[in-house]
Amino acid sequence: MKQEPAEGLIVVCPDGPLLVRGHFEIVTPAGEPVPRQRRTVALCRCGASAIKPYCDGTHKLIKFRTDPAAPADPAPADPGP
Ligand code: FES
Repeated sequence: MKQEPAEGLIVVCPDGPLLVRGHFEIVTPAGEPVPRQRRTVALCRCGASAIKPYCDGTHKLIKFRTDPAAPADPAPADPGP
């Protein structure tokens, strides 16, 4: 069995949801807990899911694209002059 990270880990899926793993809590703006059934969840970022905040796969139907694509290994910030 794959071990979960001690703290929440967010994986940015190209053209898809945000996968959240580890120990975390999802709450409403008022601080009320949002029920979840799984330890790893996919959060919608296309805005078209019928079960927000969770992804229901609709991003594939609407051909959601993250453009420009999120860098897999972003370059370090420029420290400036
Ligand atoms: S990201 Fe999957 S339905 Fe929105």
